[in-house]
Parts: sequence; C-alpha cells; structure tokens
Amino acid sequence: MLPRVMVLSRGWRPICTALRSLHTVYQSAELPDTHRMLRETCREYAERELQPLAAQLDREHRYPREQVQQMGHMGLLAVEVPDELGGAGLDYLAYSIAMEEISRGCASTGVVMSVNNSLYLGPILKYASEEQKKKWITPFCNGAKIGCFALSEPGNGSDAGAASTVAKLEGDKWVLNGTKSWITNAWEASAAVVFATTDKSLKHKGISAFLVEMPYPGLSLGKKEDKLGIRASSTANLIFEDCRIPRENLLGQPGMGFKIAMQTLDSGRIGIASQALGIAQAALDCAVDYAQKRVAFAAPISKLQAIQFKLADMALALESARLLTWRAAMLKDNKKPYTKEAAMAKLAASEAATRISHQAIQILGGMGYVTEMPAERHYRDARITEIYEGTSEIQRLVIANQLLKDYQG
Ligand code: CAA
Repeated sequence: MLPRVMVLSRGWRPICTALRSLHTVYQSAELPDTHRMLRETCREYAERELQPLAAQLDREHRYPREQVQQMGHMGLLAVEVPDELGGAGLDYLAYSIAMEEISRGCASTGVVMSVNNSLYLGPILKYASEEQKKKWITPFCNGAKIGCFALSEPGNGSDAGAASTVAKLEGDKWVLNGTKSWITNAWEASAAVVFATTDKSLKHKGISAFLVEMPYPGLSLGKKEDKLGIRASSTANLIFEDCRIPRENLLGQPGMGFKIAMQTLDSGRIGIASQALGIAQAALDCAVDYAQKRVAFAAPISKLQAIQFKLADMALALESARLLTWRAAMLKDNKKPYTKEAAMAKLAASEAATRISHQAIQILGGMGYVTEMPAERHYRDARITEIYEGTSEIQRLVIANQLLKDYQG
C-alpha cells in the first residue's frame, strides 16, 4: 500500500502555520518534522520505485505511466491543491521537497510531476471559476489524467509576449489557430493551458489563456522530440487548425494571459530548481559512492585531496542552491513577492546541477562516460534545467530587472 502524503497533511497545516516563517527554518537550520517525514516518504518511494527503473525508462524513451499513477494516489501530482478538490493540501515548501526527492530517483518522472503541479494545475487553481475548477482540476489530481502548458512557439520561446497563435471569438466558440512548441507531457496530456493572442496590436496585453481538452477536433500533436535528456517524458508541438473550443474555456479575463503565464512561471521555476537539486544530489551520491570504492595509488580515491576538493565544491553548490530554493518556496507560502528569488533559485540550482553532474563524471573517469553508471544520465538530464521555464539568461534578466526596481524603491 502506497503512503498518501495527504494523510500526513492532517494535523500538518497547524504545525506548518506555526513553523512556516523563514526565521524558524533558518534559525533551527532544519526542516519542521512534518516536512522531514514527507521527505523520507518520497525518498523511500523514489529509491524503491523510480531509481531502479530510471535507466531503462531513459533508454527506451518510455513514459512512466504506472509510476505516475502511483504518485497520483500518493497526492504528489497535486501537492498544493486543497483536499476538497482532490489534492494533498500541502504548502509549496512541501512541493519543493517532494519534487527534489522524485527527481533524485528519476528526473523524467520529476518533470511530469512538475508540469502537472505547477504549470497546469497552478494557474487553474488561481484563476479558474468554481465551475471550471471541478472539471479541470479534480480528475488531474490522482494520476487518472495529467495536464500540460502551452506557451512557447516555434518563433518565440524566451520572448513569450510575442505569441502568434490566434484565438478569435466566433459565436459561442473560440477558434484557435497556430502552433505551440516544446510542450512537456504533450503526448499523454488530457488537457492543456494554452496561451493565444486575441488582439495582436495590444502585444502582451492581447494574450489570453484557454483551457483545451486533449485530444480535441482541430488539435493535433507533432512528433515526439528526440532529446538529450529527460527522455522518458514526452515533448512535442501542439498544432491548432480551426480548433473550436467553448467560449467558457477562457481562463481568467481576456488579455490577462501574459500575467497568468508570468505568475505561473514564477512558481514553476521553484519546481524546476527542485528538480535540478534532485539531479545534482543523485550525481553527488554517485560520485561519493564511487570515490569511496575506487582504489588508485593504493587507497580509495576519496582520500585524495584532488577528489575531496571536488566533492566539497559540489556539496557547497548543492546546499546553497537548496537554501535559495526553500527560501523562494517559503516566500510564496507566506504570500510575499518571490519573482526574483524564484529566478535566483532556478539559476543557482540548474547551474549547480550542470556543474555537479559534470564533476561527477570527472570523478568516475571512464566509468562516468558509459551507460553502466548513472552519471552520464544525470549530466544529460541536468542540461535542460538551464533551458526550460526560462533559460539561465532569462533568469539573469528577471533578477536584474527586479533588483533595479528594488533599488529605485
Ligand atoms: N508576475 C506578474 N506580472 C509580470 C511578471 C511576473 N513575474 N513579469 C512581468 N510581468 C508583467 C509586467 O508587470 C508587465 O505588466 P504591464 O504591461 O501591465 O506593465 C508585463 O508583464 C510585461 O512585462 P515585461 O515588459 O517585463 O515583459 P517582457 O516582454 O520584457 O518579458 C520576460 C519578460 C522575463 C523575458 C518573459 O517574457 C519571460 O519570462 N520569458 C521566458 C518565457 C519562459 O520561461 N518560457 C518557458 C515556457 S514553459 C516551458 O518551458 C515548457 C514546458 O513544458 C516545461
């Protein structure tokens, strides 16, 4: 019987409320007991169900269907969604912790979880009407269905405000035309949050958000992309050709789409930072284990300063990124601004994951370069965390913009 994190959530919230402040965690330098229990539950699950399978899923480009369903039953696909809508009803720090542990076991499974939680359910939870929530949230909490998020296009990734997919109101239908690209979960998703322009002359203020069932007449899928990493998750285009969706599928108000996308990405970036932490932790685990077993110059290589310095730098980068990530999650939980902190967390964690997995290969030497060991997969999986949900360059832009605003007061 799989543990359900929701069970932990009974009696969780009062404790959380008491312990939630940044002050408490920084002072005690430890997680509250309840979050530690969640961490152990997810770690144990990932070690048992995901880690042994991750290499095979990657090799076969196979979607972890059964595991996604198990995670749905555990409440991990809707961590922040309240109990009454079918979710686990936990906070974002809990989500970050769970996300790290799942990604430590399998980064591909991590991104499936991340997209459903933060990019799909996140904006619906915040902007949907009560009627919409019943239809578009509850069936997506327990693993029966998963969702995706369609913002990027072939002609604009980083410049999200330049959307050219069009939505035109004709009678009681929105008619969608255009192509959305790099859509994680595209092949398995039963619904998408889609961004399209209703008035191009208004630029980003003309973008609206829509809820689209999948499959749906007028909507087709592009080929599954053949990727460097996170190969067990699908990535594909969504192609809209006179796709006529009901008028009531508008999410939020007309013209609010860009704001919805930006706010969604602020929280999504904490999820990707957490995924990167999981990949980095797995790479460090692998490097430490190998360094303690591999003998060279008549001793385990962990006795060599050259290796110790690498391990120290890896642990430092990981721990610093984790603190930034937890801080961003706690700011969100405390309803404080967190745009800059989320960008910092994603930037630090994704660059740390790339660097740590690079150094893990260096420690393993030849063994790091072959598929017999997981180090090469961690290296491949880490790379995308510097690209999706905003490249490292975009994170620097967001940080600098916010920083300059802060200085201006
Ligand atoms: N929260 C709320 N509002 C925000 C905001 C935020 N974080 N950031 C910007 N805005 C608002 C601004 O206040 C401004 O509002 P007004 O017009 O009312 O003044 C408006 O949005 C425009 O702001 P900017 O002028 O700063 O916008 P910009 O066009 O210069 O773009 C950007 C800013 C940071 C570059 C943004 O386009 C961006 O984040 N790009 C990256 C997109 C991205 O991350 N894509 C990944 C897609 S998801 C994915 O990866 C696929 C997947 O499946 C995993």
